[in-house]
Amino acid sequence: MRRIAVVTSGGDAPGMNAAIRAITRFACASGMEVLGFERGWEGLIYNRFRQLTPRSVGGIIHLGGTVLHTSRCPEFKRPECVRMAAENLAADGVEGLVVIGGDGSMRGARDLALQTGALVVGVPASIDNDVYGTDETIGFDTAVNTCVSEIDKIRDTAISHERVFVVEVMGRRRGFLALTVGLTVGAEVILVPEAPLNMEEVCRTVKENAAKGKKTGIIVAAEGVGDTRRIAEQLEANTKAEVRLSIIGYAQRGGSPTARSRLLANLFSKEAVDLLSSHIGGRVVGLQKGEVKSITLEEACSKEKPLDLSLLEVAKTLAT
Ligand code: ADP
Ligand code: F6P
Repeated sequence: MRRIAVVTSGGDAPGMNAAIRAITRFACASGMEVLGFERGWEGLIYNRFRQLTPRSVGGIIHLGGTVLHTSRCPEFKRPECVRMAAENLAADGVEGLVVIGGDGSMRGARDLALQTGALVVGVPASIDNDVYGTDETIGFDTAVNTCVSEIDKIRDTAISHERVFVVEVMGRRRGFLALTVGLTVGAEVILVPEAPLNMEEVCRTVKENAAKGKKTGIIVAAEGVGDTRRIAEQLEANTKAEVRLSIIGYAQRGGSPTARSRLLANLFSKEAVDLLSSHIGGRVVGLQKGEVKSITLEEACSKEKPLDLSLLEVAKTLAT
């Protein structure tokens, strides 16, 4: 394997730069050259890349975002665009590709591998933590800590005003971020898309807490549960609580990656380069019960990662 390429695709995540750095240094240490394609799948379709060297990836391990930039490239769902990407890789002498991204990017990686035979390995990086085959994605821990820091601040003003806050966090259609954040900020209620929304139960919890003298409350809601402004309005209309909505927003996607996110970036990158060095593709690397392993792209893209809903009860007990 003389030359590999790396691309960052989909929603950016803190730790992507640490992965770009690690992939480049592991590959170059094995005598390979590395091309970095720009702006996700778009860069492969239009053949936009730069050479990466151990020196050129210096000083980025602590930077959020991705120095290669990224994109959401819906046209990559078209077979002709997948074919163009494969033709460009072949013309550039690239024998293996590492795709750093979330569950959507893994689907693009699967299509490239299955439709063209290209050797492709996925490195799961997303703040949503929704990639099957890994207990944790690069960037998830950083986003959790960003949310915890923001919600600890919100709790200060909630206590001062004896208010209830509905705090919306990201996660697209899944509740991994909301559940972990809710558990670690001591949320009174956690709302995730995987559990049906029961506004009567939410209102009852707020009323019961107020009756116990607990007028302050934090309700962590995954964006996937729906219209959080409406949830806040319904809560205020049906309880005596003063309710406010706070949407954390895009700060969750940035910031310097935590040590945990950087560690996953280093470990996943080594596994990805080792697989390509052995001419093995069609895999997604991940953390399984503390060990770095890999599964096929097909399996990763065909199964849905389960959310442990029993943790909702754990959170409820902790918030009594
Ligand atoms: P993420 O990788 O963070 O989940 P997206 O869902 O936007 O981000 O996916 C990134 C890119 O992967 C998309 O822009 C698209 O090109 C490709 N992609 C997403 N979903 C699919 C799919 N079902 N089949 C093929 N390619 C897909
Ligand atoms: O996939 C990461 C993510 O931040 C999701 O949590 C969120 O729903 C989505 O990206 C936002 O997409 P965009 O960056 O295209 O607005």
